[in-house]
Amino acid sequence: MKIAILPGDGIGPEIVAQAVKVLKALGSDGLKLELEEAPFGGAGCDAHGDPLPEPTLMLARAADAVLCGAVGGPKYDALPRAQRPEQGILRIRRELGLFANLRPALMFPELVGASSLKPEIVSGLDVMIVRELTGDIYFGEPRGRRQNARNEREGYDTMLYSEPEIRRIAEVGFAAAMKRGKRLTSVDKENVLETSRFWREVVTEVGRRYPQVALAHMYVDNAAMQLVRAPKQFDVIVTGNMFGDILSDEASMLTGSIGMLPSASLDERGKGLYEPAHGSAPDIAGKNAANPLATILSAAMMLRYTFNQDVAAARVEKAVKRVLAEGWRTADIHEPGARKVGTAEMGDAVVAALRS
Ligand code: IPM
Ligand code: MG
Repeated sequence: MKIAILPGDGIGPEIVAQAVKVLKALGSDGLKLELEEAPFGGAGCDAHGDPLPEPTLMLARAADAVLCGAVGGPKYDALPRAQRPEQGILRIRRELGLFANLRPALMFPELVGASSLKPEIVSGLDVMIVRELTGDIYFGEPRGRRQNARNEREGYDTMLYSEPEIRRIAEVGFAAAMKRGKRLTSVDKENVLETSRFWREVVTEVGRRYPQVALAHMYVDNAAMQLVRAPKQFDVIVTGNMFGDILSDEASMLTGSIGMLPSASLDERGKGLYEPAHGSAPDIAGKNAANPLATILSAAMMLRYTFNQDVAAARVEKAVKRVLAEGWRTADIHEPGARKVGTAEMGDAVVAALRS
């Protein structure tokens, strides 16, 4: 099992190092993992003048899975668009065909107090957002700048989904729902957008093959509202790239700790890129203060979705629950009375929990 390790920028290298520790600890239990590192994001720009340098892309193509930290930072904000770290992410998604983005929002019982919502609204929350990742207005053509008939400048993008693109992400949504609570909410803006009208039609067609799954459709504005009003009504949400970008940030914050949430971006054969839901947090980079648990849980998702190692994945998840139950806390989830630890100590605690 070959894993490309792309630590990226900011806190990326520190948190990825903890996930690597955990993978290696599993490796000593008989899992054969081959890890190779390459620069990505701002680090790619520093090394090769490109957020996704050719050797990094080649390594990612050759690997069975990719583990990413986070990219970006103030140092790179002034670069031309093609060299911005974000472009590295968008390109690797597209180049590797990573069309299915799984973003769980899972409430850990120990952290209910960290949410900005009332405990009764979020305790037990377990929502899976399935976001389409390689289409929509993110990639639609034409796009650009132009002069209109009145001689004014305009900026424009194209929202667009083809039937196969909708079908394959709908399939992922239904399959996820089948493994969970068998409820799927497809989010669109069908009252306004032609793209959404088509989306709803195709998702409904795919749904005919999943009679056990209760399919509901919801407008995106209502979904944004329902997520803060009564988030536990959702099981799996399937939606397009743009709406999924926004709703997944909102859903992640319901748990109070974006530092806890992993994500997976999968291609049609289960190859995946795994990364924490949070960003590169340049303000705390290099201070051994970041929470590595989202990255460690991303490694668990890798074991489950790419390598079909459900037992190993469950062991990692159990180890994370155990360190939380034991009271270990990084600064982002710290509350009075808990044991405050740094990034590396948290990684060590998970490895220790794994072994015990
Ligand atoms: C995300 C991010 C990216 C996106 C940015 C960094 C391009 O917000 O992964 O959600 O919009 O997809
Ligand atoms: Mg986003």
